[in-house]
Amino acid sequence: MPIDKESVSGDLLCEAGVAHLDNAGAALMPRCVLETQIDHLRLEAAVGGYEAERLRSDQLDAVYDSVARLLNCRRDEVAIVENATVGWMMAFYSIPFEPGDRILTAEAEYASNYLAYLQIACDRGVVVETVPSTADGELCIESLRKMIDERVKLISITHVPTNGGLVNPVEEIGAIARANDILYLVDACQSAGQIPLDVDAIQCDFLSATGRKWLRGPRGVGFLYVSNRILDSLHPPMIDLFSATWIDADHYELRKDARRFENWESNYAAKLGLGSAIDYALNIGLDEIETEVSRLADILRARLGEIDGVSLHDIGKRKCGIVTFAVAGVDAAGIESGLRENGIHVSVSSPVSTLIDATRRQLPDLVRAGVHYYNREAEIDALVRCVKAMSEQGA
Ligand SMILES: Cc1ncc(COP(=O)(O)O)c(C=O)c1O
Repeated sequence: MPIDKESVSGDLLCEAGVAHLDNAGAALMPRCVLETQIDHLRLEAAVGGYEAERLRSDQLDAVYDSVARLLNCRRDEVAIVENATVGWMMAFYSIPFEPGDRILTAEAEYASNYLAYLQIACDRGVVVETVPSTADGELCIESLRKMIDERVKLISITHVPTNGGLVNPVEEIGAIARANDILYLVDACQSAGQIPLDVDAIQCDFLSATGRKWLRGPRGVGFLYVSNRILDSLHPPMIDLFSATWIDADHYELRKDARRFENWESNYAAKLGLGSAIDYALNIGLDEIETEVSRLADILRARLGEIDGVSLHDIGKRKCGIVTFAVAGVDAAGIESGLRENGIHVSVSSPVSTLIDATRRQLPDLVRAGVHYYNREAEIDALVRCVKAMSEQGA
């Protein structure tokens, strides 16, 4: 069923005249997500944080069910953490790498992830290798297959990179990881909320994501999926009195579930907001969301492609809602600020956020527009008009 745009628009709190197309940065929360958080903050102010937590324990518990429904996993496979990076790091740094182990990743890997590979490479003598991309731009499955040997300890892939509309074939990669019994970590930060995710189909051991982007949740909250298949074989890189119990002077016991990757204190209002955002997305339907996001992104790419001097930089056979482009004669920051003056929000994607891919393709700073299902074609028209005018002035 197509998305009911009127009803979705009714839940927006966006200022009149603003076209928010920075959904790859942070999307707009629907009203219910905001209200859920305000409601909890009011309760905390009224009765204190601990009492508020006790009173809302059922709702807080239900957030794990919401994440589990989103990912098709079990609630005990979910940890709710501060952001995607914390989730990803807790997974990555729990892997007992040894000298000579190999990490295989994609060319469009996210900077923070790659920095962690480099640190572990330096610290433990691990080898980091990027799997070449196909001519279309996604990770090449054939090349990956050929690179597999018994030294590959981890395949770690960003599903949708921060710098463009590419969607990597995470299911095909997962089939190879599973067949060879290799750990598989998926960064779904830019896909959660715009593309359906099924960890059974992906066959990953870990998957990390954030609240504030396509899921339309609050800032400062994210989650990590850890498969029960591997949970007991890994130790979190750090523990506290929440993730473990102090048994006696010499011993502790880890929690039995994925929450061993959490720590004691957290932002309960944001956690409840995340649950509300996920329920909102599930209620619309992730298939429906993906269809509408792709439709709008296709329109935006086609329209931008008609402007002289505009080059589009999204690669991959399958593309999503992130649209990146450059304008000859005007730098990306200039386009971003020109659009902002006209009430249109986009962001700039710098080469250092995906250095391997950006170097290979010799990418400059790019303008990044992320279209969500609540955006209107009129907003796309407005962006295209402004870019055309700036391109003509810059030429
Ligand atoms: C692909 C990708 N992974 C991870 C992150 C980090 O997410 P967070 O800021 O929630 O830690 C981002 C943020 O832009 C991202 O684009």
